[in-house]
Formats: sequence, C-alpha cells, structure tokens
Amino acid sequence: MPGRVLITRPIPGAGPALIARVADEVVAVEADVPMPLDELRERVRGFDAVLCMLHDPVDATVLRAAEGCRVFANMAVGYNNIDVAGATKLGILVTNTPGVLTEATADLTWALILAVTRRVAEGDRIMRAGRFPGWGPNYLLGGDVTGRTLGLIGPGRIAAAVAARAVGFRMPLVYHGRRDSPDLDALGARRVELDALLAEADFVSLHVPLSPETTHLIDARRLALMKPTAYLINTSRGPVVDEVALVEALQGRRIAGAGLDVYEGEPAMAPGLGASENAVLLPHLGSATVETRDRMATMAAENVVAVLRGRRPPNLVNPEAWRESEGPSTVP
Ligand code: GLV
Ligand code: GLV
Repeated sequence: MPGRVLITRPIPGAGPALIARVADEVVAVEADVPMPLDELRERVRGFDAVLCMLHDPVDATVLRAAEGCRVFANMAVGYNNIDVAGATKLGILVTNTPGVLTEATADLTWALILAVTRRVAEGDRIMRAGRFPGWGPNYLLGGDVTGRTLGLIGPGRIAAAVAARAVGFRMPLVYHGRRDSPDLDALGARRVELDALLAEADFVSLHVPLSPETTHLIDARRLALMKPTAYLINTSRGPVVDEVALVEALQGRRIAGAGLDVYEGEPAMAPGLGASENAVLLPHLGSATVETRDRMATMAAENVVAVLRGRRPPNLVNPEAWRESEGPSTVP
C-alpha cells in the first residue's frame, strides 16, 4: 500500500524522516517559497499523498490533476485553502494539525493586544529612527489592558487559550459563537450576539475559521459598532475582515487600533494599512515557534503515514471521504 509522497515546501523537524520510513519515495520540494497554482497542478501528478501548506491553493483543478492521490495533509489548523467538498467527492482525504498550535497562537494574540495598546511597535520605530525626544507626561500614551473587556469571536480552542491568559489581566470576557463553549463558560465568559459583542468589547479578537459565512464578517457596518477606544485583533484569516473598511476605520480613528497577523490578499496588504500608525502588523506568525512548527510538521507527517498504511488518519477533516475510500473506488 505505501506509495509516493510530495512535500510542497521544506518543513522542519522529524516529519520528513517519519514519512521516509514508510513511503516508497518522498519528493520534498526544495524551493522555500509558495508554489504558484500552475506549478502545484503539475507537481501533484502521480503522488499518493501530498503534505501541503496553508498557502497552497488546492482547488478543483489541483485535485483533478492529483488523480489517485489518497490524502492532502495540510500543515495548518485552517484548511480554507483546500476545496474539501471537491476532495470528498473524489474520495480524497483532507487532514489538518489542530491543537498543537493553540498555545503559540494564543501567545501571539496577546503579543498583538499588548503591542497595539501600549504602542510597542511605534515606540520601537521611534527609537531606531533616533526620534525619542525624552520622557514626557503626554508622550506616546496608550490604553489600559487590565480590567477592560475582551470579546472573542469564534469560541474554539484558540479563543479559550486567549481567554485563559486574560484571567491575569482581570478582564471581563464575552464571546460569540453558534454554540456554548464550556471552556469559556468556566472562565466566567458571557455568550452574546455578535453586534452586542462589538458594541461592548474593548478588544475584539477573531478566532473563526475562514468560510463563506465568515468572509468579511467584520465589515464597515460592524467596525462602526465598535467603540472608538476599542482594538481589533486578527490572528485567524485575513478575509474575515474587510481590510479596505478597516483601513478607513483606522485612519479615521473610528477605532483605536488593530493588531493583525493575517491579510486579505496575503502576503500583500490593503493600500494605506502600512501607513496606519495605530496598526501593529505581523507577517502571519501565529504558529511560528520552533517547537510548534516541529509539532505541526510531525502531525501532518503522521496523517500521511496513517493513510499510506491504510489507516484512518488521526486528524481527518472530511470523514465522509474515509467511508468512501474504504469501499470500492467511487472515483468517477
Ligand atoms: C495557521 O494559520 C494555521 O492555520 O495553522
Ligand atoms: C483551533 O485550533 C481552534 O479551534 O480555535
């Protein structure tokens, strides 16, 4: 059963070795840059498994080109880059790497909360430019964090880890999601409607997966509901926020600031965002620690290895495809 595996970009840690022990052949792409769609479509031909990155656009054309492939193992918790419904129809399994990046992403969310509120990045730019005029009673004042209300949209594991850290800051917690979150409830968080959360929170932090329902969830109307003293934090996916509307809100000082790790047209950003001093801008670093990336690569590799051995992969996101793949091939 083992077969040929493609790894679309150099990955850290033990992942490649784990796969090499089982696969007949591993082709690890050496170029450490995202592969364009055309190239991805050509490269996936003839493989039994593909270990891919969150920027690989695994659309219907790639899935068709990958005919005979059994799994696309995404090295990410998010899998909006993969046409999962299309994969399911073709009997191709899709896996992700949940859980292992929760704490790292929550830490980075907090880095953004503190950096934007206390003007950390702005201060750093001033020092490097030799523009520090000396201490002043009114100089570079930010906002308080302690005791202010934290609003979490999308109450999954990462939101709960962000909330757990907020306990030390004695922050009232509100959250919005389709379901109650026992983890957030245990921290005393109140579940509220989305618009009510936007009106109440001093920090609005986004933790939803990207889907048609969450695309532009935070648009001009919803930004206008936020307090002028509130901050928007996004460590989820860029398109959850209408970035053009956000630039307007930041430049018009209709909100106090934003801490962003992700962008609508990543790696590009909307015109004007880079010139907004009240935004802290990070280059998609949510899971970027040595230990976390190692665990993510290992987890993605374990999913590949399971499939090569004919077993159900531990982090399957389309279980419907698994049932299909057990029986005689349903691939048209
Ligand atoms: C990172 O953005 C991930 O989804 O793992
Ligand atoms: C991701 O792991 C989440 O559930 O928030």
